[in-house]
Amino acid sequence: MYSWRDELNGEDLTLRPEGTASCVRAAIEHNLLYDGPKRLWYSGPMYRHERPQKGRYRQFHQYGVEALGYSGPDVDAELIVMCARLWRELGLEGVRLELNTIGSPEERARYRADLVRHLEANAERLDADAKRRLHSNPLRVLDSKNPVVQEVVARAPEMMRYLGEASVAHFDGLKKLLAGAGVGFTINPKLVRGLDYYNLTVFEWISDSLGAQGTVCGGGRYDGLFAQLGGKPAPAIGFAMGCERLVALMRDSGHAPGARAPDAYVVHQGEGALESALALSDSLRSAGFAVIQHAGGGSFKSQMKKADASGARLALIVGEDEVRASEVTLKPLRDGRPQRRESCATLTARLAQLLEGN
Ligand code: HAM
Repeated sequence: MYSWRDELNGEDLTLRPEGTASCVRAAIEHNLLYDGPKRLWYSGPMYRHERPQKGRYRQFHQYGVEALGYSGPDVDAELIVMCARLWRELGLEGVRLELNTIGSPEERARYRADLVRHLEANAERLDADAKRRLHSNPLRVLDSKNPVVQEVVARAPEMMRYLGEASVAHFDGLKKLLAGAGVGFTINPKLVRGLDYYNLTVFEWISDSLGAQGTVCGGGRYDGLFAQLGGKPAPAIGFAMGCERLVALMRDSGHAPGARAPDAYVVHQGEGALESALALSDSLRSAGFAVIQHAGGGSFKSQMKKADASGARLALIVGEDEVRASEVTLKPLRDGRPQRRESCATLTARLAQLLEGN
């Protein structure tokens, strides 16, 4: 994390690395769950002191969703189905779902003890990273990319065997709901997630076309976080997606929205024309049109060149004649149609018509 002491008042500050803990803190501080569960969302920049590489930045942006106060696998399924809908609507194919359960804290503690025992017995085959994590966060050794460590991990005890009845029922419930909703998934027993607050359901949406940083969205259940942050216990689950990775994926699949060309470019020349053009542009923008108003003066010819280069469909010409008559000259720029004069009063309707190609 990026943390420092504020020189002015000695306060300890940290740039937020994620949004989940903040949502829970806000819910506790403002008693948000007093009248029942809540569904929250957020978006914004997050900051992590990481080694930057493709798809991994020190400042990046997340969209996050948190469902606070819900305990059942029904809401787990709802959130996951919602992600699947988003990929569909964005035209993204090949984003696959990996799913796992990491049980309750007690189940995980028993598992962790056995895992540490297994890793210690094979300590000579662990790399420096795995050795460092062995006691701080041994579950993270499970997702090591080192083939030798992977061999050790392959023979490690399996979390699934440590699950009690309730955890198994939760996971089975979720799998059944996802299958019923037609959302495919693979169970990845090594998926443990990088943050410490999770329990039961954890999941990641991964694309193979992004290289090493292929996770576009990750989340899971964090039923212990309210109590951990000093609040009344409440179950919760959420996810966050990385906007930069999503945009990269949209680009790759040819679905990135292009820059929108303006509908019209307003050209003006002569006495009183600038004032009229300003009012005209403003009223067209209010009506929802994307308008560029020429700025910086110049001859009529050079303004028309700029209008053409802007990609606008139409040039709207405001000259002295037009000002006197409360009219505008409409000049289509992308097809051979003739220019015409139009009264300012009917301009919005005519513009809509022309842009629709009539
Ligand atoms: P996370 O897995 O740390 O989870 O981050 C979620 C997503 O943010 C990642 O899947 C990735 O797309 C994006 N992301 C993370 N770090 C970077 C980075 N350095 N550069 C670019 N993109 C990045 C969380 O943050 C949890 N708060 C998610 C959550 C919500 N769990 C429960 N509720």
